[in-house]
Amino acid sequence: MAGPLDGKVAIVTGGGRGIGRALALGLGAAGAKVVVNDLGTSLQGESDGANPAEDVAAEIIAAGGQAVADNNSVSDPDGAEAMVKCAVGNFGRLDTVLNNAGIVRDGLFHKMSFDNFDSVTKVHLYGSYNVSRAAATVFREQESGSYVHFTSTAGLIGNLGQANYSSAKAGIAGLSRSIAIDMKRFGIRSNCIAPFALTRMVTSVPTGDTPEFAEKRKHMTAEKLVPMSVFLASDDASDVTGQVFAVRGNEIFVMSQPRPIRGLHRANGWTHDDIRDVFMPSVKNDLTPFETTMDVFFWDAI
Ligand SMILES: NC(=O)c1ccc[n+]([C@@H]2O[C@H](COP(=O)([O-])OP(=O)(O)OC[C@H]3O[C@@H](n4cnc5c(N)ncnc54)[C@H](O)[C@@H]3O)[C@@H](O)[C@H]2O)c1
Repeated sequence: MAGPLDGKVAIVTGGGRGIGRALALGLGAAGAKVVVNDLGTSLQGESDGANPAEDVAAEIIAAGGQAVADNNSVSDPDGAEAMVKCAVGNFGRLDTVLNNAGIVRDGLFHKMSFDNFDSVTKVHLYGSYNVSRAAATVFREQESGSYVHFTSTAGLIGNLGQANYSSAKAGIAGLSRSIAIDMKRFGIRSNCIAPFALTRMVTSVPTGDTPEFAEKRKHMTAEKLVPMSVFLASDDASDVTGQVFAVRGNEIFVMSQPRPIRGLHRANGWTHDDIRDVFMPSVKNDLTPFETTMDVFFWDAI
């Protein structure tokens, strides 16, 4: 039976575990030839001596698909180039990049070390840039290609103890939108998914879940991310670009785009007193109430 990604070639970064593993297997089952990239790290980004990319590539092949493992780090620009060469060298082209690799090093902002900020940014934001940029040359020559980047509600909304991760994830949403603008003329698309899935990453984060939601979260498996990822990688999504979707269990959300809510113009410009006495009272009801846990914010919005 024909799959929606028959003939397509995909790179899945961080494809050895968690969501990435589900994506690599799911894309393989949908007909894609897959470069399963994974450095094999602990949750904090230290090498753990495992080679999960090899295991997942073997699983895809055993199921009748085509795959190759790649062990480069997304945070290394040369490694990203090698990853793209691996796709083109083995399978002759590249159609989609799923920027999924990630680590966390949580801590309250006022205690966060430079190293913990730097390493998380290098994997998420620089990692997404590196692999996207390396693929852009191939995409442009082909005049086709699709990026699916993994952002997070931690970045779109904010989260306790994750200033490094949140800023990198917000950066990925901006990266995606700008790629969508720059590369539209070549028929290349760029979208984001904000996933929810019970992986080792989530069990490490203090979510502030109520017992009821903790129970629900158990059903949010990594496999639930597959259909939306396959769809965005497929030609059926040829008119979908610059978007952010959240996927949580059986629910898919389209997230709002940052846009001005209300604007006031003053012919002679604004003084401090005008802002206090005129501008702020008139936008009072437009200010988004600020909460300290993203879950409260996200769930209340729906
Ligand atoms: N699980 C969730 O609910 C959730 C929520 C929001 C966002 N995300 C995002 O989804 C993505 C996947 O998360 P997950 O929960 O599956 O995490 P995970 O820890 O289970 O898997 C991440 C994988 O990335 C690999 N990796 C780490 N650094 C790498 C590097 N430099 N180069 C290549 N591979 C590297 C790891 O070895 C691991 O296999 C991440 O980008 C994460 O930030 C997850």
